Amino acid sequence: MRKNIAAGNWKMNCDFNEAIDLAEGIAEGKRNEKSLTILAVPSLYLNKVQAVVGAEDDVFVAAQNCHHMESGAYTGEISAKMLSSIGIRYVLIGHSERREYFNEGSAILEAKLRLALDHRLLPIYCCGEPLDVRKSGNHVAYVVKQLEETLFKLSADDMSNIIVAYEPIWAIGTGETASSEQAQEMHQALRASIADRFGNDVAEGMSILYGGSVKAANAKDIFSKKDVDGGLVGGASLKVDEFLNIINSFE
Ligand code: PGA
Repeated sequence: MRKNIAAGNWKMNCDFNEAIDLAEGIAEGKRNEKSLTILAVPSLYLNKVQAVVGAEDDVFVAAQNCHHMESGAYTGEISAKMLSSIGIRYVLIGHSERREYFNEGSAILEAKLRLALDHRLLPIYCCGEPLDVRKSGNHVAYVVKQLEETLFKLSADDMSNIIVAYEPIWAIGTGETASSEQAQEMHQALRASIADRFGNDVAEGMSILYGGSVKAANAKDIFSKKDVDGGLVGGASLKVDEFLNIINSFE
C-alpha cells in the first residue's frame, strides 16, 4: 500500500550519545499522523535506536546496507538474516555512495534485494543519475535502466514490498535540490515504467521517495507533487526540529 514516508539517512554520523538524543527527539516529537518515519541508522546503533522508538507505531528503523551473500567469511559485514533476526524491518539498498565508493553494481544489488526479501526485510531501493547524465538530457532513460537491471527481475509480489528512492547524485549533500517539477517528472516516469512491467496495481501501490538536499524549507513543495510520496533525507535528518518539520510537511 502506497504510504507517505519521511526517511532519515544518518550515514556515518553521530556518536552513541548523539544517536540516542536524536532518536529520542524524534520519538518524543509531534509527528504527522499521515506518514511513516524511518530512521536509517549506523548498524552499531540499530538495536538501541529500535528500543528507543519501538513503542511508536509510526516510527521504524532501517539498516543502511546489507551484504549480498547469505553468510560466511566476509569479515566486518552484516547479513540480511542478521538484521531480520533483531527485528529490523527496512534496509537501504543501492545508495549512490555504496555504488560509487564500494563498487556496487546491478548484479550485487539484485542479490541484496533478493536476500533482503527472503528475510522479510523491506528494501528502500535507491537510484539516480549523475550530473553529466542530467545535463545530457538522458536522465529518465538512465534511471529507468537502473530499475530494469535490478528491480525488474523481481516478481510482482516482491515488488509490492519495495520502496523506491529517487536521488539525483548532483543533489545529494550539495545543497542543490531538484525542483519539485524535476522530481515529479522522474517519479511519474518511474511509476509508468513500473506499471508497464508489473501492472497498474503494483505501480500505484508503490511509495517513491525523493532524496537530495531535502530540508524543512523545501519539503512541502516537493512532497506536494502527485508522484512524490515522501523523502529520503541525509543532512537535514540529523537535527531533531528540522527533521520533525520535514515529517510534518505532508498535506
Ligand atoms: P542529503 O542526502 O539530504 O544530505 O542530500 C540524501 C541521501 O543521500 O540520502
